[in-house]
Amino acid sequence: MKIDLYLIIMGGLMLEKVCNVSDVQEGSMKGFTVESRYILLSNVDGNFYAVDAVCPHAGGYLPIGKLENNIITCPVHGSTYDVSTGKLVKDVSFLLRIAIGGSRDLTSYKVSVKDESVFIEL
Ligand code: FES
Repeated sequence: MKIDLYLIIMGGLMLEKVCNVSDVQEGSMKGFTVESRYILLSNVDGNFYAVDAVCPHAGGYLPIGKLENNIITCPVHGSTYDVSTGKLVKDVSFLLRIAIGGSRDLTSYKVSVKDESVFIEL
């Protein structure tokens, strides 16, 4: 059965359609707006991961950063995060932490793929 709905509710959980599987090629990432949230969707070795697209440090837009395997580098000050977990891997420099504070983990979202569509759980 093909799913054409953009929002489905399963067991009380809201699944929002982000895109089609073919929209984010393996080894790449893309930013989407889903229910007024900026989401970064990454395809790492055929697995999809979703995290906040805005860097919690100072608002850098992560989809224009650099993705290497499962690590995204913020384009503004260079913090790195694991897109598969949202965990902060490397914070900004010591001097920047002193000046304006450090970063923290990204919010991550559970992803599911059904009938060539990618959904996240909100
Ligand atoms: S805005 Fe991302 S590391 Fe500073």
